[in-house]
Amino acid sequence: MKLPFSPERLPVIIGVALALGGAVTVTFLVVIGAVLWNGSIPIKGDDTQQTFHETPDVLAWQQDANGSVSDAATESATSTEVDPFDYASMSGEEIYTSVCSLCHGADGTSNPLNPMIRVPTINNPDALAAASDDFLYHIIAKGRSGTAMAPMEEVLTPAGVQKVVDYIRAWEAKGADPSKASAGLGKALAGREHYRNNCASCHGMIGEGGIGVVLNTPNVLGQVTDHTLADSIINGRAGTAMASWKHLSTQTVNDLLAYLRSWQGDIPVPEADTPKRVVDAKHTQKDAKGNIIYHEISDRSLHVGKAQYERNCLECHGAEGKFPMGDMTHIAPTLNNKEFLEAASDGYLLATIARGREHTPMRAFGVDTPAGKKLGAQSMKDIVAYIRSWEQSE
Ligand code: HEC
Ligand code: HEC
Ligand code: HEC
Repeated sequence: MKLPFSPERLPVIIGVALALGGAVTVTFLVVIGAVLWNGSIPIKGDDTQQTFHETPDVLAWQQDANGSVSDAATESATSTEVDPFDYASMSGEEIYTSVCSLCHGADGTSNPLNPMIRVPTINNPDALAAASDDFLYHIIAKGRSGTAMAPMEEVLTPAGVQKVVDYIRAWEAKGADPSKASAGLGKALAGREHYRNNCASCHGMIGEGGIGVVLNTPNVLGQVTDHTLADSIINGRAGTAMASWKHLSTQTVNDLLAYLRSWQGDIPVPEADTPKRVVDAKHTQKDAKGNIIYHEISDRSLHVGKAQYERNCLECHGAEGKFPMGDMTHIAPTLNNKEFLEAASDGYLLATIARGREHTPMRAFGVDTPAGKKLGAQSMKDIVAYIRSWEQSE
């Protein structure tokens, strides 16, 4: 059933190949691919028309693309040996592996295809915590215009997109893996409880040390990453009193990290002033009268936000959040992108700015780090207001 070059897969294959050359062409060709596919491509040089299983997904997709069920789909009722790449029968994991892993890596952490194309890590605890299901759904369905991330609604039905979202979401739930631990996801209060019961006897009530080493100095914490701390906790330190705590859930490890980090000064995420931004009929937020809720931007915020953006973000995210057409060497994702701005809520933006993304160049702006001083809550909000203003000028 998994033909390597089945027509339904064509858009993706073309997309991936062309991603190497230019992102805009990709989106274009995916659409062409989808059209070709929909137009029933002859195979094996004979009269046979490639037809399709009439799965609800495929039918829905065809209906969507044509406004009505196409001939090909109707024919399939009588067809005997059709074997398209049938996404409808595939699990989220299978879809991810065949469609997404080429660019996003088997586990969502890398870009195996071409390191010159900057692909954000999807499988990153900070990213997953900040991204709502709506956000993921929207980005996957609509893509990001002007980048290699093509609109997957061209090849996947809504149900297919949802399966991938669920699969990506499940990465969060896997057992304690130090590289995926993050203080940002923990609850410091729960962590304190656990710490007092299990760790304080050696490390002291507030991490001041004892049999175990001192944990509470800003210096120690400032230099040790969440990954390293989690590794010490989960795997222990061989040959010392520090046993391994492999039985702890990821959440408990995160809670412990959050508590340890609280000695360093927590990273507060400013409260967004505005309601969560959402898109799509299904996802759009409306007020009592049914009007779509928009964001208000004060001139002051805009002015200050622009200056702050240019000082802190421009070097990586580009002037006005974008890069010259065809520039694939930029290290950070395009922010000035219609689909991204529609999908990302203010809360998402603020959390990403305040906490950054561990293990990537995107530093936390909510704390002082070796890369620079922290930004105040108002400055972060001003930057978000400035980013929002791009949306209105589209
Ligand atoms: C041809 C390469 C390619 C393929 C195939 C691809 N992506 Fe992407 N994806 C990208 C790039 C490049 C970006 C970043 C775009 C930018 O610069 O804004 C991206 C961005 C994303 C984002 C946003 C991440 C964030 O942190 O904002 C998500 C989510 C995502 N992709 C999911 C998927 C899923 C799920 C699939 C499969 C259905 C997929 N992608 C297939 C290249 C690809
Ligand atoms: C029986 C005593 C004992 C207990 C209980 C204990 N530790 Fe430790 N811990 C140690 C010792 C000793 C070391 C130093 C190991 C070394 O020399 O490398 C250590 C090291 C560490 C480190 C590495 C510090 C660094 O500088 O990298 C962390 C983090 C840590 N412990 C956290 C915890 C947490 C969290 C708990 C509770 C879940 C805990 N420990 C329970 C004795 C203990
Ligand atoms: C040193 C380079 C660098 C600087 C400076 C920087 N960023 Fe980033 N930023 C990145 C990288 C790289 C990523 C992608 C991280 C990943 O792989 O998940 C990112 C991701 C993001 C994202 C998430 C985008 C998405 O697709 O989900 C937002 C929002 C963001 N940055 C905003 C900002 C803002 C606002 C500033 C200034 C206050 C800033 N960044 C400064 C490098 C940078």
